[in-house]
Amino acid sequence: MEFAKTIESVRSQVKAARSGGKKVGLVPTMGALHVGHISLIEAAVEKCDFVVVSIFVNPTQFVPGEDFEKYPRPLEADLEICKKAGTDVVFAPTPEQMYPAENITWVSVEKLTESLCGQFRPGHFRGVTTVCTKLFNIVAPDIAFFGQKDAQQAIVIRRMVADLNMPLEIVICPTVREPNGLAISSRNKYLTEQQKKDAANIYKSLQKCRQMIDAGVKETTEIITEMRKILQQVPSIEIEYISIVDAETLRNIDRIAGKALAAVAVKIGPAKLIDNILVDVSK
Ligand code: PAF
Repeated sequence: MEFAKTIESVRSQVKAARSGGKKVGLVPTMGALHVGHISLIEAAVEKCDFVVVSIFVNPTQFVPGEDFEKYPRPLEADLEICKKAGTDVVFAPTPEQMYPAENITWVSVEKLTESLCGQFRPGHFRGVTTVCTKLFNIVAPDIAFFGQKDAQQAIVIRRMVADLNMPLEIVICPTVREPNGLAISSRNKYLTEQQKKDAANIYKSLQKCRQMIDAGVKETTEIITEMRKILQQVPSIEIEYISIVDAETLRNIDRIAGKALAAVAVKIGPAKLIDNILVDVSK
């Protein structure tokens, strides 16, 4: 496995792979890798011949007051994980490489970024879409891999790629969960064992949503009320939002008709946790 710190270095390695006819996959990450990331790398190894994992804690997607400074950066452990998972190159640039001057050029996706986390993290998605555009321009992958856990991010990036005719495919991989249902996230590292147990109610609330839909309930307020009750059983959970939105437009819906996304964001102790499920009542 190679380690590239500079844009020139990763570009030249991708160029060599491509000239050998290889299909290039990119797994963009902010490091602090876990089994969720490993599943993305494994999907990339399966679908591509040359896999680049980027590790970059992107300052432009953190809102003031968020955890940019203390975001975990265990580079040595991350490199080991990448190597074991079959990565060809880790691209881990410095902030100066990625943003050599004040950033005054942004890529923004409208509408899809207004609901869900967009309401609470102004500027977050603009930072994500800007850094992903930069990574796509630097690495020029055939396929980039994202996790379903960050459903809004994945939908926003897919739309950006379509709207801007970017020549790559976006693959969205399933959420990986702890045995108690808690979605795996780098921010779970902030939780105590008790808080991890408490956080299981996030997925319980989403399962309740699915059960109610399977039982024929279509009114979203009715479902959200029951989901809220499950989250409120745990005093350490502070609810940011519980939303059921159209899976394409991400707008709130009153009644579930086709494909919908049920999404939850909560704070537990120092961590903000998000999770979601996709439901399809048209089937
Ligand atoms: O999901 C993440 O880890 C980040 O938002 C991403 C896609 C790597 C962009 O910084």
